[in-house]
Amino acid sequence: LVQDGERDIVLVGLGTGTAEDWRRAAGTAAGISSQTRAGSVAVCLGRGVDGRLEAAVEGFTLASYRFDKYRSDRDEAYGGPETLTLAGSDLGTAGARERLKNTRSLCEATVSARDLINEMSSVKTPSFLAATAKRLGRKTDLTCTVWQGDKLEREKMNGILRVSAGSDEPGAFIKLVYRPKRKPRAKVALVGKGITFDSGGLSLKTAKYMEWMKQDMSGAAAVLGTMEAIAALKPPVEVRGYIAAAENMPGSGAQKPGDIITYRNGKTAEVLNTDAEGRLVLADALCVASEERPDCIIDLATLTGACMVALGTDVAGVMGNNPRLIAKLIKSGERSGDRLWELPLVEDYMSDIRSNTADIQNIGSGYAGTITAALFLRCFVGDTKWAHLDIAGPAFAEKPKPYGPKGGTGFGVRLLVDYIASL
Ligand code: BES
Ligand code: MN
Ligand code: ZN
Repeated sequence: LVQDGERDIVLVGLGTGTAEDWRRAAGTAAGISSQTRAGSVAVCLGRGVDGRLEAAVEGFTLASYRFDKYRSDRDEAYGGPETLTLAGSDLGTAGARERLKNTRSLCEATVSARDLINEMSSVKTPSFLAATAKRLGRKTDLTCTVWQGDKLEREKMNGILRVSAGSDEPGAFIKLVYRPKRKPRAKVALVGKGITFDSGGLSLKTAKYMEWMKQDMSGAAAVLGTMEAIAALKPPVEVRGYIAAAENMPGSGAQKPGDIITYRNGKTAEVLNTDAEGRLVLADALCVASEERPDCIIDLATLTGACMVALGTDVAGVMGNNPRLIAKLIKSGERSGDRLWELPLVEDYMSDIRSNTADIQNIGSGYAGTITAALFLRCFVGDTKWAHLDIAGPAFAEKPKPYGPKGGTGFGVRLLVDYIASL
């Protein structure tokens, strides 16, 4: 902090710095500016601005994010630093302007995901998520399809139906499709877990574990956010987003431990614990996604507390049936700041989820819960290349992060956009 009598100037230095260092530095600068109520932040990018331009804008924009619509003490006079001044060579070129525009779209999409995660569950029902997707479809050239009620029955979307049975809120299956103008270089399917509130169902959670379960649709938020970004960035890749949305409640119609679900691919699953509901609804969406024959499926889900035990709050678990896809996603994670670490799909652990009465059951013995959950999902992708991201840790911050406040992080949006851009 430099004080010259008239002005306070905060200097943040970071040496050479990776993209992530630049995000964090710009985030720190935005944070300090909020504390000192500064009006502007300047970042000197130096010569040859490669990824630093994007990183600085991301760090600054995402660190300035607030979810304050329900706060009466919201500061109308000061909403954070208003301007970001970028200094460096080659910033006036058309290329740099284009990259700036794209980065802003990416940040807006990440903010949309955060807003959805932070919204209260009594507002963001499955129907609300469906309406949000429909609105996105009208605003852009994405096509949106929603299945609810009878249509879910006819389509045998029995996971979504059985999980929704204990709730007054009807479940929904949401599909958003982006088709590039030219022949697509690849077809990517994204699948998101959209449990708008997870009480656990009849296998009810205790109060402490229920506190933050509005975040259980973070996978869906990541898919919606990514589709919003893709609609703006228009990559030469076909992208299909699928969301399995339901509210997991213990109402009188609720599914009961011991119930068996028959899926649209013929597989049967015994529900021994109604709190392992994410895999039950994702199974429906994975069936539909794989029927449409994409080059790969990537699903995102706040699936297991076990993944938080294994990897903590900053890293998501990645598992799947294709080492190349997993390696590419991990690389995208390193570039984008949404970090991943692979866990093994140990074949022998399949014996843990074999059921006496059905093909499989929805919980294992208690060990390696993240892996047995992924093995459950694998039963629904057929031979499609598939990667599963367990984002239970990084989706929601219980304390502030380097470039974001407590609450929804939008994890996955920057990762997936990087991956799709790399194809
Ligand atoms: N939504 C939870 C997982 C979760 C926990 C996400 C904490 C974010 C933070 C999931 O539906 C769940 O309840 N999983 C159970 C599975 C168990 C019953 C096999 C869990 O992790 O305890
Ligand atoms: Mn649960
Ligand atoms: Zn859940």
